[in-house]
Amino acid sequence: MHRFFIETYGCQMNVYDSNIIASIMADAGFERTCHSSDADILIFYTCNVREKAAQRVFSNINLLRSANTKVVAVGGCVPQAEKDEIFRYKHINIAFGPHAYHMLPTHVSRVLSGETDRVLDVTPLHPQKFNCCGAERTASHSEFVTIQEGCDNYCTYCIVPYTRGKEYSRPVADIIAEIKMLLARGAQEITLLGQNVNSYDGDAPYINIRKPRGTWNFGRLLQEVAALDGLRRLRYTTSHPKDITTDLMEQHAHIDVLVPFVHIPVQSGSDRILKLMNRGHTTKEYVDKLMAFRDICPGIQFSSDFIVGFPTETEDDFEDTLNLVKEVGYLNAYSFKYSPRNGTPAATMDGQIPDDIKARRLSMLQSELMKSQRAHNEAIVGKMMEVLLDKAGKKDRQYVGKNVYMQSVVVESDDADLIGKFRMVIIERAFQNSVAGRLV
Ligand code: SAH
Ligand code: SF4
Ligand code: F3S
Repeated sequence: MHRFFIETYGCQMNVYDSNIIASIMADAGFERTCHSSDADILIFYTCNVREKAAQRVFSNINLLRSANTKVVAVGGCVPQAEKDEIFRYKHINIAFGPHAYHMLPTHVSRVLSGETDRVLDVTPLHPQKFNCCGAERTASHSEFVTIQEGCDNYCTYCIVPYTRGKEYSRPVADIIAEIKMLLARGAQEITLLGQNVNSYDGDAPYINIRKPRGTWNFGRLLQEVAALDGLRRLRYTTSHPKDITTDLMEQHAHIDVLVPFVHIPVQSGSDRILKLMNRGHTTKEYVDKLMAFRDICPGIQFSSDFIVGFPTETEDDFEDTLNLVKEVGYLNAYSFKYSPRNGTPAATMDGQIPDDIKARRLSMLQSELMKSQRAHNEAIVGKMMEVLLDKAGKKDRQYVGKNVYMQSVVVESDDADLIGKFRMVIIERAFQNSVAGRLV
């Protein structure tokens, strides 16, 4: 029996893809192991969004390879962008893009049989891969489902349009069938995934009796998913600010399983930088949308992504970003130093910012974001809220779960099996990255 080990890097879509890969490999008769030393097939599913993410995989291949290793397969966004250049790292047998994962068992078998020791499979998106979900797929209490893949926005810093390809929306019926299957296998929380979920435009199963076909937008899809039996919480990510519509805000006001927490990356608070980034909106347009969202759905909270040190970014531009953070009051946010990516327009722009300046701006931004996060954690002390318990905590009897806002809530209990359960909790203390509470 051949055993495989998967190491996953990058975004939630990579986690989703890796789950599918594991189930397809299991269907093909390979056995999964959680210990790389027990595996003769090593699969690395990679991210290319920043230099560091891409580099980490190559050092890990060297770390994890052993005398047992018969196949090294590198999948995802690094091989899709690098194509056959990836084979400069010897020891790689199979390089497959995010659109070729359904072919992995075939490629692995060919390498194992000695037919070849090098396979490159970087086809552009082929919808067929979505129909290879894997019969062996299991569901945890919280699952991801890709509804849309690819990006037509071409932000000038970003590699994703070159790795995930052009935007493609999965048909509504396929998405619904997959979510129903996951709910039947025990999922209670679903996160819909896409590079731009709110530009979703998928084949509809029906519109009305007279007009059976057409497309549904994201709001219509949300309604259909929300109505499924057994679904307790619905999330989605990522949204592009320019595609946030009033219709979407209204869905939040009407659909009770839809969480009041939305990730809306802005990247910068400077209009000049937003323009150079090709984001397609100004800071004011962005803030106006968030305010409209708050009017329609009181209590809604936001998170965001930021890039510091984009080419030509001045101290004033950066100041604008800090001011935006103070104005919005994000519940949390991810922030990164700009990382030049081969083949993207920003990588060759004049005015690249030295690393020490990027590092200083990043730490200033992060301390501002941490203040905001801490304030949000303190604001819920004394409140009672529903928490979905995800995992055991570090200490004995501890559990860690999430409220609707994705805040980590730590509780203590003698109950042996709380994982995957919803419980009411009174929040008692706030920390930087979590809060502690008491089960009601
Ligand atoms: N489709 C999503 C996610 C893109 S990648 C979106 O549009 O929001 C996730 C985040 O990585 C981006 O929001 C951005 O903040 C960051 N990112 C992308 N390219 C980057 C680069 N070249 N350097 C630094 N950060 C980058
Ligand atoms: Fe990248 Fe921009 Fe597309 Fe997001 S919207 S994936 S940042 S190009
Ligand atoms: Fe990384 Fe590809 Fe996701 S570059 S962020 S793994 S889409």
